[in-house]
Amino acid sequence: MADKPLRSQKSYGKLDRDGFIHRSWIKGTGLPDHVFDGRPIIGICNTWSELVTCQVHLRELAGFVKRGIWEAGGVPIEFPAMSLPETQMRPTAMLFRNLLAMEVEESIRANPIDGVVLMGGCDKTTPGLLMGAASVDLPAIFVSSGSMLNGKFQGHDIGSGTDVWRFSEAVRAGEMTLADFMSAEAGMSRSAGVCNTMGTASTMASLTEALGISLPNNAALPAVDSRRKVLAHVTGNRIVQLVKDDVRISQVITRQAFENAILMHAAVGGSTNAVVHLLALAGRLGVPLDLHDFDEIAREAPLLVNLMPSGKYLMEDFCYAGGAPAVMKELGSLIHRDAVTVSGLTQGEIADAAQVWNREVIGTREAPIGPSSGVWVLKGNLCPDGAILKPSAATPELLTHRGRAVVFETIEDYHARIDDPDLEVDATSILVLKGCGPKGYPGMPEVGNMALPPKLLHQGVRDMVRISDARMSGTAYGTVILHVAPEAEAGGPLALVRNGDEIVLDGPNRTLDLLVDEAELVRRRQAWEAGREPSKYTRGWYKLYIDTVLQADRGVDLDFLVGKSTADVTRESH
Ligand code: FES
Ligand code: MG
Repeated sequence: MADKPLRSQKSYGKLDRDGFIHRSWIKGTGLPDHVFDGRPIIGICNTWSELVTCQVHLRELAGFVKRGIWEAGGVPIEFPAMSLPETQMRPTAMLFRNLLAMEVEESIRANPIDGVVLMGGCDKTTPGLLMGAASVDLPAIFVSSGSMLNGKFQGHDIGSGTDVWRFSEAVRAGEMTLADFMSAEAGMSRSAGVCNTMGTASTMASLTEALGISLPNNAALPAVDSRRKVLAHVTGNRIVQLVKDDVRISQVITRQAFENAILMHAAVGGSTNAVVHLLALAGRLGVPLDLHDFDEIAREAPLLVNLMPSGKYLMEDFCYAGGAPAVMKELGSLIHRDAVTVSGLTQGEIADAAQVWNREVIGTREAPIGPSSGVWVLKGNLCPDGAILKPSAATPELLTHRGRAVVFETIEDYHARIDDPDLEVDATSILVLKGCGPKGYPGMPEVGNMALPPKLLHQGVRDMVRISDARMSGTAYGTVILHVAPEAEAGGPLALVRNGDEIVLDGPNRTLDLLVDEAELVRRRQAWEAGREPSKYTRGWYKLYIDTVLQADRGVDLDFLVGKSTADVTRESH
């Protein structure tokens, strides 16, 4: 037991007017006198919502967390946080990740709780919950949603997102009927849970294990698998113990934990979105982490997991093959084995206990699923602060490429012209999209894997080099250069690219350059600055976001949210 009295006792342990107020109004929720005897009060921060399949089952799952908390001698108190449905929110759920993080941070800090179980799953909820909780730094454990069952369509497995991109290109190329396209919809998402591909949600869930902030198997157990209920129950047990031992997030998510997470990210063929999320989380915790760490730390980690979009299988298959603990086992000597986890076991102990049950789904370092993994971090005069590329989702022949730019100034410009049969474009062209960065859209949407011009699709072209300041869905694929920093809206060189400019991508050497001479770029910059219009976002969250958001190489957090304010609040409410 920690020597110092629990944080909640500042509110519930006082036998005076203030204690009366705190206790009386929480007793009104149905709690008896005796639970205020000094036992841990555990918050369950739940992003449950009917707006999101990914989290629609989380109220029921929270019931199992509560059982575990009661059983271990704690008091569970569940409270909501905004749900961030990836496929429903406009202009993009990413615009609201930092808002969720603020809500989570202040909800935890302001209330009399000693530790917190974070419940989420859809793409932006995992980072939002972790970032917010990290800035308070109480003991915490993450319980993820788990994934949907494998999608089914005409006798085949189909994967969330990934097959949407494939099907929609097939329709555009005249290879799939609209009727079949429509009938695939219902079979793709046929249970509660997150996307069943290794998209952002399952990537982030895998990273909760590698960061040590969830119990083993949190990532891969399907949403509807009874063993997820058991995991929730045991999480309830563990959070009470973590509070008693005073094990805070910052003691678990260390530099070592981030390095393990970067290796896991590479091995699972994880979403490019994880890059901005881990950078932002590191910023909250004050752990030094740099964009280039993603490229360097994971150099020796091959692609070990054969899941869409980098491979062929889906999350159910990953679960039955052994899940994230089995990947840690295969990463072997690359990982920090002594990194602590909320389970009470080290990563090494978890890896030792794991086993791979299906070599088609989880490979070995000697016989990997693919040679290239992780993300490449590019530098050059087109992206002075970096850009990223996911080689396992790209076409190898395009990773070294020289071509002429076909420029779209905004997403509206792209939509208006991409289907035009007269668009001047061929298979060697490079599609360049501007205005889709954090400030430009705003929110940095997942439009970087822009669909190809139909006239090229009809010629059989299935991939082209594409460059933007946007993100792409973790379920997407292609030779797509993303997160160009600084973004066009912030005056990055991307803003200066014009139709016909030559661009050179040298992936193996990690460079991306615009072949336009410096004097011409200076002239273009003057013209760009002269043509600026005042921002149309003048109020509310949008304004706060645009005024303070950091670029992709800094994790797209708000500048004033970097770091933490801790759990201390001295003033009373009355
Ligand atoms: Fe929620 Fe994919 S839409 S995880
Ligand atoms: Mg997404």
